[in-house]
Amino acid sequence: MAHPLPGLAFERARRFTTVGMTERLDATVALVTGASSGIGEATARALAARGAAVALAARRKDRLDTLAKEIGEAGGRALVIQADVTDRDQAVAAVTRTVEELGRLDTVVNNAGVMLLGPIVDAPVEEWDRMVGLNVQGLLYVAHAALPHLLDAAESSGRRVADLVNISSVAGRVARSGSGVYNLTKHGVGAFSESLRQEVTGRHVRVSLVEPGAVDTELRTHLGPAGREVVERRFSAIEVLQAPDIADAVEYIVTRPRHVAVNEILIRPTEQEG
Ligand SMILES: NC(=O)c1ccc[n+]([C@@H]2O[C@H](COP(=O)([O-])OP(=O)(O)OC[C@H]3O[C@@H](n4cnc5c(N)ncnc54)[C@H](OP(=O)(O)O)[C@@H]3O)[C@@H](O)[C@H]2O)c1
Repeated sequence: MAHPLPGLAFERARRFTTVGMTERLDATVALVTGASSGIGEATARALAARGAAVALAARRKDRLDTLAKEIGEAGGRALVIQADVTDRDQAVAAVTRTVEELGRLDTVVNNAGVMLLGPIVDAPVEEWDRMVGLNVQGLLYVAHAALPHLLDAAESSGRRVADLVNISSVAGRVARSGSGVYNLTKHGVGAFSESLRQEVTGRHVRVSLVEPGAVDTELRTHLGPAGREVVERRFSAIEVLQAPDIADAVEYIVTRPRHVAVNEILIRPTEQEG
């Protein structure tokens, strides 16, 4: 029997197809902070493979140069931006250079972060400064500088949507002894992201939060003995995630159709309990 409303049936079918569809990112520009290793590096690679021109920001230029070369050889386009995003001027300059040299800004992956675990009592306060300076202030500086460009892209680009993806953590949802200030920074990222989401979602800038569990990256190499002990205790017996597992999630978020906003993705290794 024919559908009583054939136009409606067609529209539904079209929508279901669209939802499953994976979009290309051709003619879009993405800025990834912390692109010199781990999750940022994998994400930049994934977005470039989808067709985005990618600005790669971090402090280690040699690592960014290597990644840019790899992306270029695969037929993509990458811009290396050596920047310490805890310095507001450098964070703003990273955004400005992206727009000046790549022409626009459709996607920001606010990923640069540091995790310095250990007890709060007698903690080296400079470690707290480093975490707050990067995980909170650096992320804010990049978001603030990028938002006018993302709003512009959402209004005037062919896709008429733009994305700000903030990388938080399971530590942004669950507080634990030994992670107090890291918990503080990542809970802050979650609160900020939700507030900003409500502010700009009507203008088609999607603000998303990605919350990884344990991922095999260089993050743990910055830990002192106390922090290393915390991580060893929790994760030495399980199969942890790899950086491309998280890049997959970011790729999924930014390739949804305009009417679909994936607000939050929590990804743990299967064996990670808490
Ligand atoms: N690995 C995990 O288990 C895990 C779990 C949950 C959440 N996360 C989050 O994932 C994000 C990425 O971490 P990762 O695991 O991929 O660790 P990673 O391999 O250590 O990567 C951190 C990145 O941040 C960059 N960075 C550090 N300080 C910076 C600064 N001042 N300015 C600009 N860039 C800076 C580093 O590059 P340079 O040193 O070259 O500047 C590096 O590219 C972080 O926000 C982290 O909190 C990780």
